[in-house]
Amino acid sequence: MKTVLQNKVAVITGGSRGLGYAIAETYVRAGAKVVIASRSARSVDEAVKKLQHNGAQAAGLACDVGDLAQVEALAELAIRTFGRIDIWVNNAGISAPYGPTAHVPSADFLNVVNTNIVGTYNGSVVALRHFLAQKSGKLINLLGRGDTGAVPMQNAYSSSKAWVRNFTQTLAQEYKGRGVDIFGFNPGLVRTEMLSNVQAVNGYEGRLNPLRYVAMLWGNEADVPAEHALWLASPATDGRNGLMSTVLTKRLMFSRLVTLPFQKLFSRSVQPLDLTVTSVESAYSGD
Ligand SMILES: NC(=O)c1ccc[n+]([C@@H]2O[C@H](COP(=O)([O-])OP(=O)(O)OC[C@H]3O[C@@H](n4cnc5c(N)ncnc54)[C@H](OP(=O)(O)O)[C@@H]3O)[C@@H](O)[C@H]2O)c1
Repeated sequence: MKTVLQNKVAVITGGSRGLGYAIAETYVRAGAKVVIASRSARSVDEAVKKLQHNGAQAAGLACDVGDLAQVEALAELAIRTFGRIDIWVNNAGISAPYGPTAHVPSADFLNVVNTNIVGTYNGSVVALRHFLAQKSGKLINLLGRGDTGAVPMQNAYSSSKAWVRNFTQTLAQEYKGRGVDIFGFNPGLVRTEMLSNVQAVNGYEGRLNPLRYVAMLWGNEADVPAEHALWLASPATDGRNGLMSTVLTKRLMFSRLVTLPFQKLFSRSVQPLDLTVTSVESAYSGD
């Protein structure tokens, strides 16, 4: 059994499902104690029970990362339960309905800002105030599509991830040489609810059809990026403050494209993504 995180305590936001839960599972298998959070108390309870059922030391809290007081309460729970925090993963993230910016309902756009931007800010400052005092700790901020450039029809999400990237790089420069490692992590396409259960502004639903095939080609189950997140949290990355790590490199994309026909021959698991698109009313009544 791998024990690279033996006696480490990790906080993972958005840990009730999807990639966050896979990271929590992977970390406990590597010996860590984990504290997870998401907005739904029921989902958190179920996820904690599932982790504990498998023998893990786990705790959780219903917490909206957009609220600083709730994020502080999450850190306090980790300290109260396990005595310290060594790793903090700002994983909680959402996307807005697919469509042009003025057509997207403002409340949906601002929810993305609140979770992806304000939430990452809150988690980062709360974690860093612990890490700087103890002169150690790893902060991992989730990047995503658009973190290095514009993505039309996904402005809220892509701009939020570009912000996370810039914010994380700035933190890494500010706290260089202070014993903390601050990383950005782009997990690539992950077959989670975020990818398979999406919303689109009325009239733009059909444009999401290619996603079924894009996800078939380049998507991973969550355990693949979770292993990468384990490497980031492990001593292997000690001193690599400022690292921006990506699962889906151009080389990997190319090799998947080339090997797909062979994979299809030998594996039935290579199927188009089972995609559900829900329509939302456009916020703009023109074209
Ligand atoms: N899936 C992909 O292809 C992909 C690609 C690149 C990057 N990412 C990034 O990876 C991260 C995880 O994505 P995922 O695919 O695992 O998404 P997911 O399956 O939709 O899970 C999102 C998690 O975040 C929680 N959450 C959402 N808003 C929250 C808030 N305001 N406060 C606290 N928790 C909140 C959700 O629980 P509640 O709803 O109960 O709050 C859930 O546990 C995100 O940052 C995403 O941007 C994903």
